[in-house]
Amino acid sequence: MKPIPLCEADLNEDDVQAVASTLRDGWISSAAPVVEAFEAAFLAQLHAWGASPDLGCVATQSGTSALWMCLHLLDLPAGTEVLCPATSFVASIHPFLYQKHRLRLVDVHPLTFAPTLESYQSAKTSETKVVLVTHLYGLAMPELLKLRQWCDAEGLILIEDAAESLGTLVDGKPVGTIGHYGFYSFNVNKTLTTASGGILVSEDHTLLAKLKHQSTQAKCYSTGELFHDAIGFNLRMNALHASLGISQLKRLPAFLDAKCRIAEGYFQAFKGQASLDFVHHHNPPYARAFTGITPSYWLNLLYVDDHAKRKALQGALQAQGVQVRPVFMPFTAFDYVHPFLVEASLQEVRSQFKNAYALWERGINLPSSPHLSEGDQARVIELVLEGSKHD
Ligand SMILES: Cc1ncc(COP(=O)(O)O)c(C=O)c1O
Repeated sequence: MKPIPLCEADLNEDDVQAVASTLRDGWISSAAPVVEAFEAAFLAQLHAWGASPDLGCVATQSGTSALWMCLHLLDLPAGTEVLCPATSFVASIHPFLYQKHRLRLVDVHPLTFAPTLESYQSAKTSETKVVLVTHLYGLAMPELLKLRQWCDAEGLILIEDAAESLGTLVDGKPVGTIGHYGFYSFNVNKTLTTASGGILVSEDHTLLAKLKHQSTQAKCYSTGELFHDAIGFNLRMNALHASLGISQLKRLPAFLDAKCRIAEGYFQAFKGQASLDFVHHHNPPYARAFTGITPSYWLNLLYVDDHAKRKALQGALQAQGVQVRPVFMPFTAFDYVHPFLVEASLQEVRSQFKNAYALWERGINLPSSPHLSEGDQARVIELVLEGSKHD
């Protein structure tokens, strides 16, 4: 049987032509005008979704590098305390570790997979300077606008990790654009791909200008010499990736429609199955938790009863060539992260972060490529129904 991948890029002849045309042109470096053209097109899409007209952006080699450069330029001292969700993909926190910041973990809500405003508020200490919020799987933190207001009132910097949630709206605004800084990923499995790439968005044009300058080794030619005026990086997006991004952006609405159709298909198939809890805004408990959210369903997520059943279902699907993935482990599961956690985040982790642990133990991601065919989705559904009957 043909394998069914978890989440593949949807590439077509237009994408091939776009990259080929840049190659033929020969200007393929990060200095080529096509990189700025991609930034302009991306920004236009965010504005069309209701983002602030003052927003700017800088494209980078990855989402990780967008966050890293942002933190480098914020120049907060080592040991700076950051409130951070107890679980996400590790790339959400690695740049904080590069900067030697200290993370105070906050458990996530069991239905939205982001901390609530109240849990951030009770975790805050006099040391807290930064708040990280992550929007996982195309979902969102529903109280985002209030979170921004609270951060402003408390003098905290709000950073949004919207790597997985391009196209998700909260109260009519795109996630990633509400915080002081937000970033997206265009990694190969994301809703819009540039093979690898990312972008930082913000209204802080001073920081964005520095990012653009320093992401290409901080080169200055004004004296007629090749002069450098700051620590530089080589982290700017290049022209080949940007041309793919411009081409992909034209089909973004179609990708988002397809993702929603796939999610609806899984929801219809699994509703009424007592042992399966599919994360969807039409599923009553989620409907309430997702008030104000328009999800983009990057990766579909199914909860089963317990860890053993999740592992059994995962094994059964994989044995049939269906690629599924367990949900991320909480950050406390990784020893190398421990030295960067405040003392309190290492205590009684299973009860303190019980929702993050339950999400990992019971959650499984199902195939979600935008071009997943009806036939392939029907096969996944049949195998899930079959697999959950036996275990
Ligand atoms: C939640 C989250 N944060 C950050 C990243 C990092 O993005 P990138 O892979 O583009 O560096 C990813 C994706 O890979 C992600 O899923």
